[in-house]
Amino acid sequence: MIRLENISKQYDLGGTTVDALKDVSLEINRGDYAAIMGPSGSGKSTMMHILGILDSATGGKYFLEDYDITALPDKEQARIRNKHFGFIFQSFNLFPELSAIENVMLPMSYAGIPYKTRKDKAVDLLQEVGLGHRMTHLPTMLSGGEQQRVAIARSLSNDPDLILADEPTGNLPSDKGEEIMEILESLNKRGVTVVMVTHNPAQGRRAGYVIELRDGMLIPGSPNLEAQNV
Ligand SMILES: Nc1ncnc2c1ncn2[C@@H]1O[C@H](COP(=O)(O)OP(=O)(O)OP(=O)(O)O)[C@@H](O)[C@H]1O
Ligand SMILES: [Mg+2]
Repeated sequence: MIRLENISKQYDLGGTTVDALKDVSLEINRGDYAAIMGPSGSGKSTMMHILGILDSATGGKYFLEDYDITALPDKEQARIRNKHFGFIFQSFNLFPELSAIENVMLPMSYAGIPYKTRKDKAVDLLQEVGLGHRMTHLPTMLSGGEQQRVAIARSLSNDPDLILADEPTGNLPSDKGEEIMEILESLNKRGVTVVMVTHNPAQGRRAGYVIELRDGMLIPGSPNLEAQNV
């Protein structure tokens, strides 16, 4: 599905540069469940931004189904992103003035889907993540885990082929984190490709394989597809 070839990412800080990713090559296949792990600052979120075509690499190539994404104009990149990817990022907050259901409906209105279809779909998605009883609540009236589930429902509104989740359970107590993991895993069982950043080794072991970063580089032998348990 995705092939990265010698991807590097430098951040220019006026005078100094930070090498956030160095010469990373890897493949993610359709239906995979991959965990990205590594110490703070090792380049995990940078990698997620590049995989999600939210940011472009400074070197190397990104192929999506053999199309060279690097060469596409921004508008086309955005179209691919909106149609095929779902994001569960801590920085992608819910809109505080919109209710749970309105937050889930929003991406569908950007996609031009009619009101009734949007609403029905948002109801289904919120029920699926166990929030059928919280649809009209504003984010501030929801717990952290509930907010994260609204974010998951929103990320599913475009029927994504790929879900990118950056520490989706990071701010949650372990029982709430478990609910999120189970939702991601049931999506993966339905064929959705899942790439998740986690600091939690137990969560890493549940993934099909682990992509391990150190100082912006893949550690040798990573990802170990032989150890794949999916
Ligand atoms: N916008 C930016 N400008 C400059 N440097 C950046 C920027 N974003 C990240 N960096 C640097 O790039 C490196 C990788 O950052 P990244 O956010 O990818 O790490 P991470 O592995 O996600 O860490 P964490 O586990 O703390 O979230 C870090 O050294 C960071 O300081
Ligand atoms: Mg990060």
